[in-house]
Amino acid sequence: MSIAFWRKEYETGNSQIDRQHKHLFDIINVLHNAMMKGEGKDVLKPTLYELIKYTKEHFATEEKLMQSSHYPHYHTHKLKHDELTAQVLQIKHKFDDHEEFITVELSKFLTNWLVHHIKGDDQQMIKFLQSKNKG
Ligand code: FEO
Repeated sequence: MSIAFWRKEYETGNSQIDRQHKHLFDIINVLHNAMMKGEGKDVLKPTLYELIKYTKEHFATEEKLMQSSHYPHYHTHKLKHDELTAQVLQIKHKFDDHEEFITVELSKFLTNWLVHHIKGDDQQMIKFLQSKNKG
């Protein structure tokens, strides 16, 4: 059972960014399914690591786009990326140190964060980039 369902309304209009977002949804679903099945750390760990790695790559892609186009809301947008990264890294450290086990609350939180962020910050940013390219 999946938790992150892709919808057309999440599209930004930038094919590279949309492809990356879809892939993030896919990884969240893999992690969610593993947690639902009660898989152990040996299965959850590589997926959590992959999620963190790909999230960083994705944020870097967007940040590069914002910087090269002198996007006026770059710092606010980057701060949101940094906050999420820090939060997820904190979860990873606790998980690595056996202090905490990850649960479906994590996949729910990530799905909600991503949907909210895509529909707000990301779509606004791509709209700016597209209007600039046209101008
Ligand atoms: Fe798609 Fe700003 O993250």
